[in-house]
Amino acid sequence: MTKQFNLVIKNGIVVTSGDSGPLDIAIKEGKIAYLAADIDANLAEKVIDAEGGYVMPGGVDAHVHVAQDFPSGANGVSAQCADNFESGSRSAVCGGTTTFLSFAHQNRCDPSILEVVEAYDKLAKESGSYCDYGYHVIITQPDIEMLQRELPVLVKNWGITSCKLFMTYAALQLRDNELLDVMFEARKLAITTMIHAENGDIISWLTDKLQEKGMVEPRFHAQSRPPVVEMEATSRAIVLAEMIQNPVLFVHVGSASAAEVIRSTQTRGFPIYAETCPQYLHLTWEDLASKKFHSPQCFENAKLICSPPPGPDNTDQELLWTGLRNGTFTIYSSDHCAFRYHDVRGKALGIIQHKESIEGSTCPIDDDHVHEIMHGKTGNFKYIPNGCPGLETRLPLLFNYGLAQGRITAERFVELTSTAPAKLYGLYPKKGALMPGLSDADLVIWYPEGHIKPFSLTNDHLHHDADYSPYEGMEFKNWPRYTILRGKVVWAEGELLGSKTDGQYQKRKPSQLTMSAVKTARTDRRRVATWLYQ
Ligand code: URP
Ligand code: ZN
Ligand code: ZN
Ligand code: ZN
Repeated sequence: MTKQFNLVIKNGIVVTSGDSGPLDIAIKEGKIAYLAADIDANLAEKVIDAEGGYVMPGGVDAHVHVAQDFPSGANGVSAQCADNFESGSRSAVCGGTTTFLSFAHQNRCDPSILEVVEAYDKLAKESGSYCDYGYHVIITQPDIEMLQRELPVLVKNWGITSCKLFMTYAALQLRDNELLDVMFEARKLAITTMIHAENGDIISWLTDKLQEKGMVEPRFHAQSRPPVVEMEATSRAIVLAEMIQNPVLFVHVGSASAAEVIRSTQTRGFPIYAETCPQYLHLTWEDLASKKFHSPQCFENAKLICSPPPGPDNTDQELLWTGLRNGTFTIYSSDHCAFRYHDVRGKALGIIQHKESIEGSTCPIDDDHVHEIMHGKTGNFKYIPNGCPGLETRLPLLFNYGLAQGRITAERFVELTSTAPAKLYGLYPKKGALMPGLSDADLVIWYPEGHIKPFSLTNDHLHHDADYSPYEGMEFKNWPRYTILRGKVVWAEGELLGSKTDGQYQKRKPSQLTMSAVKTARTDRRRVATWLYQ
């Protein structure tokens, strides 16, 4: 006899961004079919007993870098992400994430963003993906004619409804007039503009001063970017957004002072969205200067280098936790940007390129000899690629250190990790929700409390291709027990069951948050050119 449902999940505490309660979930043909207090197990081909654990919509990680090269600015060598679509998505499902959005990156020499997206899509198709995925586009060469020609095609043909703009990094930084150009074109098509807000000119000025003083070890990276650098760029981008009268989203907000500016803008009625990431809740400058590694001078501190850097001390961390609770932050993403430590295209560039800059010649180092050259060296932070791994640990960190410690509710957990990113980037309610008939059956099921022995994280637990995690040594009392992608169990009790042919590309709609916000936006009329849209 054919059964009515493919899968039923029984005895869980089902949590959405609005409610939670003891419900069973029935799944049919990859969709959520039915939620009820007691669904007959006999109606299902397969049953999972959640044994009282939380059952939530699968994680949506809206900020991930895979299969991406970063121009390093030195000797034409680019840093290479440790993960491609296959390894990144593998680690995603093992950590409860069922959809991620990564970046198709336009280099200055690329005249067409459509061609960049086509090439990036080829990489995704070649390597395959264990989870669903979509793309943002990074724009570094905003030629207006190209934008007017290609952005509508990007939205219509690819369902790409978001772009990222940088206010720092020599090879990526846009000037204010260029930011305005993209924001202006983005507004016409309801494209969400994501801003990396750091004042690149201050950073390069401070970097030069640090170099003059010989303060070049990895720990000085944070000194080249004190919180005011992020705060200034955030304030400036808000002024630009108000000028254009279109919301923006600040990615990877790391400092409490930037969060305060965002909060006060939201309070006076202009819609600004913001994201924070695990590194800003769990790391500080002190970690960068030896707490974790052998000595303050140790090159290993390069493992924790990301931009913006984590805040100086725990005060910033606590204020960011408050921001997660009170709505300043709309979403919580990983900014997974893994570079292998022992890799000539990874963090080792901080030693190799430093050596080359002193010796004035290129040094042909291969991966077999990278250990030798790295041993006992201190390197230079300005050549170290910025970014940390974090796709797989994103949900477990927020679960163990946020939800389980009473810092956020279970509903807020779901909102930050799944529902709000799905709404912000036009994936809702297919993703981020449990709506019968409408939502994909993407789920993460946690162990009931006390079910597993607490363990200390090592890199061996993880499924990325990075050779370290910033969170090694931290204690975890819970971890995703099952991950389900469109009705298929892809991760169960520590075993990867999915395959790299499971993931599907997701065409997205315009943002379901910023679209409505823009109609009700109240701006300070003294700030904007009111004639722009008359
Ligand atoms: O340090 C970081 N965040 N690297 C990743 C690239 C970016 O800016 O998001
Ligand atoms: Zn960024
Ligand atoms: Zn060391
Ligand atoms: Zn990033």
